[in-house]
This record gives sequence, C-alpha cells and structure tokens, in this order.
Amino acid sequence: MATEITSLHEVFADQLKDLYSAETLIAKALPKMAKAATAADLKAGFKHHLEQTKVHAERLKSICAALKEKPTGKTCQATVGLIKEGQEAIDEDALPEMKDLMLIAAARRVEHYEMSGYTSACGLAKGLGLKDILATLTTTLNEEKATDAILAKASGPALAKAFAAEKSAKPAEPGAVAEVGKVIKKVVKKIAG
Ligand SMILES: [Fe+2]
Ligand SMILES: [Fe+2]
Repeated sequence: MATEITSLHEVFADQLKDLYSAETLIAKALPKMAKAATAADLKAGFKHHLEQTKVHAERLKSICAALKEKPTGKTCQATVGLIKEGQEAIDEDALPEMKDLMLIAAARRVEHYEMSGYTSACGLAKGLGLKDILATLTTTLNEEKATDAILAKASGPALAKAFAAEKSAKPAEPGAVAEVGKVIKKVVKKIAG
C-alpha cells in the first residue's frame, strides 16, 4: 500500500477535518439535547453551546481555508458513536430528573472528546509554528473546557433533584402500608360501631 500521508501538514489537515466533522455533527445533536432537558439552566446551557459550536465549525473552516485545505471529506466516527449514546439518553423512558443526569453524562463525554482533539490539534499547530492558528484553536479548546466545567457544576443540583425525585417516586415501604391498613381498619370499626 502506498504511503499517503508524508507531511505534518497532512496530519494537521486530517485532524482539522476530523474536528470539523465532529463540530457539525454536534451542532445537529445539541438542539435535540436542549429539547430533551428539563432543568432550565441545562436547557439554556445546551442552547448556548450550540451557538459556540457553530462558531467552532466556522473557525475550522477559516483555518482550513488559510491552509488551502477543505474542511469536509471526513466523518468523525467517535462523535457518531457519542451522539448515538446521547440519543439513547434522549429516548430513554426515564423520570425527567434522571434524564437530565443522563444528558449531562452524555454531553460531558462529548466535551472531553473535543478537548482531547483540540489539545492534539494545538500541539500540531505549535509544532508547525502556526501561531495565529494555535491561538484560534486554543480559544475553542478553552470554550470546550468551560462548557465541561459548566456541566460539572450543573450535575450537583441535578443529582439533588434526581435524588428527591427517586424518593417521591418510590412505592411506600411494606411497614408503612401495614400501618395505613391498621388505621383504616380502626376508622371502619369506629364508623360501624
Ligand atoms: Fe466544539
Ligand atoms: Fe463542545
């Protein structure tokens, strides 16, 4: 098999295409995540990150144009899988509070994947001495990190709400049912007697 990639430039272009595919796939998935979320701050967070994601894709387009490369032509298979997992959370027959936790977990997987992709791309940009491109990629990387931090912060209250929902959704303990039965018997006896 002939060697197709022989330069760092090509490796960099390959990574950028992968990231571009990831961003465009994520941009399609985020509105569904926002729709499926119940907590207002989580819903708003997904919508906000959708706008950022569109900018991330535009930045990659500009970088590719500067490098005389096309951003298209690759499908990020990992993102396809991560989005499938997100869709599973969306489709799950779960209490809204539980679903929010599942959406947060799915979204954090995506952010971490993006963070690793941009970290590698930044390393290549640095190695190639592409200062402006490095600065642009670092801006995106920092936005992915910030999004992950927001999701991490949201998971605390989401967990508390899910815990409360679990408590109220639980069927009464058998002991408590027996107590209620005794009270009902007493009341019936009183009425009858
Ligand atoms: Fe992104
Ligand atoms: Fe992201």
